[in-house]
Amino acid sequence: MKNRMARIFKPDTGRTVMLAVDHGYFLGPTRKLEEPRKTIEPLLPYCDALFVTRGVLRSSVDADTATPVVLRVSGGTSVIGKDLANEGVTTSIEEAVRLNVAGMGLSIFVGSDYEHESLLNLAGLVNEGEDYGIPVLAVTAVGKELEKRDARYLSLCCRIAAELGARMVKTYYCEDFASVVKGCPVPVVIAGGPKLNTELDALELTYDAIQQGARGVDMGRNIWQSDFPVAMIRAIRAIVHENKTVKEAYELFNSIKGD
Ligand code: R5P
Repeated sequence: MKNRMARIFKPDTGRTVMLAVDHGYFLGPTRKLEEPRKTIEPLLPYCDALFVTRGVLRSSVDADTATPVVLRVSGGTSVIGKDLANEGVTTSIEEAVRLNVAGMGLSIFVGSDYEHESLLNLAGLVNEGEDYGIPVLAVTAVGKELEKRDARYLSLCCRIAAELGARMVKTYYCEDFASVVKGCPVPVVIAGGPKLNTELDALELTYDAIQQGARGVDMGRNIWQSDFPVAMIRAIRAIVHENKTVKEAYELFNSIKGD
């Protein structure tokens, strides 16, 4: 378990830049992730872990890739279906072991009609993961209700996830994010959410989250929907692993972008 956690959270900083490319599991061919291999390959040298489903892993990531994988193992819904919260576990523990993953990730939907099911999914996955030493990442999902993302709600979700045994939690940045981190006894990373207006906005989000205790990012759209995804992930890395300021990271972004 410790070894797998150290593959995700780099021991020298205790932080991670995880690249989220799992969106297709409910969104289909999302913009700029239409051909996953083309999106993923240029970014692989700059991410500490890849958050991906088994289908994209199998089809679009070479088996000799050394980048650790955190496998998205929940799903069963679509963006045009009745309720995004009605997820089940889609991938067996044997498959996760066979794929040699560093972790498994699953969404919980606290406060939804499927709260109970998603929390028991998490507990069951933790039971299996603990047997094999595979840490579970709980994702505090909000479906289409993005306005839910405040500190009171996210603190509740993150704490419940940790109590049920998640070894790490992915949530959203929010005002008073420090209180979310404080109430969660396991590492918290942030998702970026839908693409923000500018790259600077995403760098600010990342910086603020790190300052308030986030242990890194599990970010997707704000990296690969940028016109300059490599420059963007490198700027994010500079904030996460080198404690760069927003200004320094933005300068780095502009200098790489201009290459
Ligand atoms: C959404 O549930 C997906 O699991 C993504 O992994 C997550 O939202 C992070 O990606 P993004 O930074 O694009 O929000």
